[in-house]
Amino acid sequence: MDTLRFITCGSVDDGKSTLIGRLLYETKLIFEDQLEALKADSKKFGTQGERLDFALLVDGLQAEREQGITIDVAYRFFATPRRRFIVADTPGHEQYTRNMATGASTAQAAVLLIDARKGVLVQNKRHSRIVSMLGIRHVALAVNKMDLVDWSQLVFDEIEIVYRRFAQDLGFETITAIPLSALEGHNVVDPRHAAMPWYRGQSFLQWLETVPTEGREAAQPFAMPAQWVNRPNLDFRGFSGRVGSGSVKPGDSVRISPSGVTSRVKEIVVGTGSIAEAAAGQSVTLVLEDEVDASRGDVIAAASNPVESADQFEADLLWMSEHALLPGRPYAALIHSKSASVSVTHIKHRLDVNTGAHLAAKTLGLNEIGTVNVSFDRSVPFASYAQNKRLGAFIVIDKLTNETVGAAIIHFALRRAVNVHWQALEVTKVVRAEMKHQRARCLWFTGLSGSGKSTIANLLEKRLHADGKHTYILDGDNVRHGLNRDLGFTEADRVENIRRVAEVAKLLVDAGLVVLVAFISPFRAERQLARGLFEDGEFVEVFVDTPLEECERRDVKGLYAKARRGELKNFTGIDSDYEPPEAPEIHLRTIAGKPEACVDQIVHLLRS
Ligand code: ADX
Repeated sequence: MDTLRFITCGSVDDGKSTLIGRLLYETKLIFEDQLEALKADSKKFGTQGERLDFALLVDGLQAEREQGITIDVAYRFFATPRRRFIVADTPGHEQYTRNMATGASTAQAAVLLIDARKGVLVQNKRHSRIVSMLGIRHVALAVNKMDLVDWSQLVFDEIEIVYRRFAQDLGFETITAIPLSALEGHNVVDPRHAAMPWYRGQSFLQWLETVPTEGREAAQPFAMPAQWVNRPNLDFRGFSGRVGSGSVKPGDSVRISPSGVTSRVKEIVVGTGSIAEAAAGQSVTLVLEDEVDASRGDVIAAASNPVESADQFEADLLWMSEHALLPGRPYAALIHSKSASVSVTHIKHRLDVNTGAHLAAKTLGLNEIGTVNVSFDRSVPFASYAQNKRLGAFIVIDKLTNETVGAAIIHFALRRAVNVHWQALEVTKVVRAEMKHQRARCLWFTGLSGSGKSTIANLLEKRLHADGKHTYILDGDNVRHGLNRDLGFTEADRVENIRRVAEVAKLLVDAGLVVLVAFISPFRAERQLARGLFEDGEFVEVFVDTPLEECERRDVKGLYAKARRGELKNFTGIDSDYEPPEAPEIHLRTIAGKPEACVDQIVHLLRS
């Protein structure tokens, strides 16, 4: 007997709990004995309190759970003689697409609840898009509360027409509209025709019992991401994970990505015994014939169909945080079990959930879906989501808060970087710097507007120059007139401002110069990104620490006054954040010392 995993999506007050309640009530009474088997079975997937194994979102959400952040998805079980069911029940509020995406990521079918009185709402459309994006191909339109519209065929037909027109290009294989009354029990379990003689279709339960459960994964070549490498003793080494696609038998040749090493399957272990074949969806441990190295997140696949690796992709991204996406910012990513750093390099468009139109966008806000290009900091084994849900999905995590902020599915790899080989140049940074009798460095000044960054950087440059050093200053006010003249002061623009200037500073350091960067650079994430571009010891973060009140008192450019009057938006320290460095190499307190003293402090550190 197979198991159907489905999700119910609705909005507040549409009668979702009544519907599920009635299903549970009626089926439970009849098939009590099935329940224990189902619960035992579902332990393999894990349920509340246990480990949930997702096609998508798997480790990220597990991590969240470990961090004590809860995901509001209730999994319920019921069974009939024909099938067992696991339903992901998610709260309807608009804010929580995160819950919905979690539930949808493992579901084979979705139920969209429509209140017959209200018709198809934007919320239903949003849910449909998420469900479609996450690869669900069978949808039931449960048109509820038919009793409140006098069992009207007209109302039902209108809803079905509107929805079908909307869902045209969402790629659903079947859409089944069912008129019902959860409260009175019409068409929930048994088809009841008395009130709606015009409806001759299935009841809701009949649909649940017959909707296809076969995923596309079964027909694909074998691939399994290794979630754990088990080595209880020297002669046993197993790779555990859930088969993502296809099937595998002992004796099959396999290839591991990204290393490319090949071997054969010696044994397939489940629990304490071995099995003759494992198929998509099963959790197993593979023992290989050879001693091979593979780590968490590597993928074991059929040797004839090895899994590719790449570091740049086009993907659909669902943003799930109140804090908007910042293109260029490095986020943490989990792709199957592999962790990496990822940033969005380009937003191709944002989707209008209502009409499906492609809109121009500079960022993605809460619940918005966009098509984006992303760049990982390393090559990762992948497949397109259409081919393999497990290998084609990743989640995006805020590095500071550790919160899951996005879920993405891969369309395809962008090959642009592959053919651009790093040019190995013979005249190196070291020889360039040696010619100038100096060590190339980047001195990164950060601090509020008016804190004294430029003043101190200027004085320092004079001092270094007099010492025969070759220097260059990159100053926010100046660079913003040229290279970055297209950028303003929104959070997204500041991120890009810093990303660009960090790259320029890196080139100048490579040229052998001592580079002084004086930018507010208010966010830790981007200063971290800048630091990451340099070799150890090359990047010196200088925190020009002047309290806001003092900067405002000085107000050299009159900007604070303007900001206070509301004439200047997003002004750092007033209505835009400044995140002070936690461990700068140099901490200058400008109230205590004059600029010259600050310069002495820097020179002293550089000498030592
Ligand atoms: S950063 O935040 O993106 O690093 P940057 O250092 O390039 O800022 O530019 C800061 C300078 O731009 C300030 O010194 C100030 O002269 C000017 N400026 C104009 N508008 C703003 C604003 N809204 N916030 C901060 N600085 C602003």
